[in-house]
Amino acid sequence: MRAIVYSENGSSEVLRLEERPVPEPAAGEVRVRIAVSAVNPTDWKNRSGGGTGAGETGDRTPNQDGAGVVDAVGAGVTSVVPGDRVWLFLSAYQRPTGTAQEFTVVPAERVVKLPEGVSFDQGASMGVPAMTAHRALTVHEGGPARLSPGALEGRTVLVAGGAGAVGHAAIQLAHWAGATVVTTVSSAEKAASAASAGADIVVNYREENAAEVIRTAAPDGVDLVVEVSPSKNAELDAAVLANHGSIAVYANDGGDTMTLDVRAHFAINARYQFLLLYTVGAEALSTAAEDITAALADGALPVGTEAGLPLIRFALEDTAAAHDAVEQGVTGKVLIDVADLPAER
Ligand SMILES: NC(=O)c1ccc[n+]([C@@H]2O[C@H](COP(=O)([O-])OP(=O)(O)OC[C@H]3O[C@@H](n4cnc5c(N)ncnc54)[C@H](OP(=O)(O)O)[C@@H]3O)[C@@H](O)[C@H]2O)c1
Repeated sequence: MRAIVYSENGSSEVLRLEERPVPEPAAGEVRVRIAVSAVNPTDWKNRSGGGTGAGETGDRTPNQDGAGVVDAVGAGVTSVVPGDRVWLFLSAYQRPTGTAQEFTVVPAERVVKLPEGVSFDQGASMGVPAMTAHRALTVHEGGPARLSPGALEGRTVLVAGGAGAVGHAAIQLAHWAGATVVTTVSSAEKAASAASAGADIVVNYREENAAEVIRTAAPDGVDLVVEVSPSKNAELDAAVLANHGSIAVYANDGGDTMTLDVRAHFAINARYQFLLLYTVGAEALSTAAEDITAALADGALPVGTEAGLPLIRFALEDTAAAHDAVEQGVTGKVLIDVADLPAER
């Protein structure tokens, strides 16, 4: 089979295309024939030696996310059968089995069935972004631990960076769950994407006084912030947060440290909740997978330009260029076409 492999950390030049034997699933594992692999920032960060890539040795295939068809199952696996269309998450976490190859083997818990009519493109776009968004939306004091239609009814959610991949998923899931969704973006083009994703109020943080616009739209404040850039947005978040509001931080874009006005936060019983998908735990992952599946079946998580998330496609042999595009901050979802499998895209 064709596989993208790297043996040492570094720039995207370390990625090479190789012929490899098709791997066999051990007990509890599933072999998936990959149709579409997806690239997230974590993939290039790990490849370059940051994040979970630090200290890893041996040949590895990149990319956590993907979608395809179950091809074989190991002993004891009953959750899926060969022929099932599926999406994958954390494929390359603590194992060298990412999705940038024709077949990959992952533990059965990381393989989720695609609802009927949901495309491989959608499936490959779930993993890291949607699961991160799900966790961020379910850590609010007094808020729901699960998402479903109506679960966030009456709540206002602020999504920082609504044109990003995680931001896009957060808008869609919050909208599906009935929240009023406010989001910040840096350009008119990104504003159009965030509105297409389902945001009710879109604020250009470069051109508008974001705190003023958000306070006017939500006079009682926002209940939950899904935050990509805490160092840049701490002051804004404090200015718009409701009493007992929570700020869910999933990234350090824009800086590794932040300064908080202590009084402003305790005066409103604010809560900061940090999250990392790799270490969030099995229960959070499995509940996220279940709720995302329900949202997919409801048609609530479309991708593509009309849905606010342009798809940027690469061939498997161009995986290095796909990594570079994500590293350079391209707007949209970077997908890699691995095989043209006989199912709707
Ligand atoms: N903790 C976790 O488990 C976890 C999971 C997924 C992703 N992440 C991390 O989250 C980050 C984003 O991932 P992604 O896939 O969504 O990347 P992405 O598609 O590149 O989106 C990043 C977004 O952040 C926005 N942004 C940056 N600074 C901002 C600010 N000050 N205010 C508002 N928006 C701002 C950018 O928009 P503008 O350029 O318009 O500002 C961009 O739309 C990456 O660092 C990734 O590694 C962490």
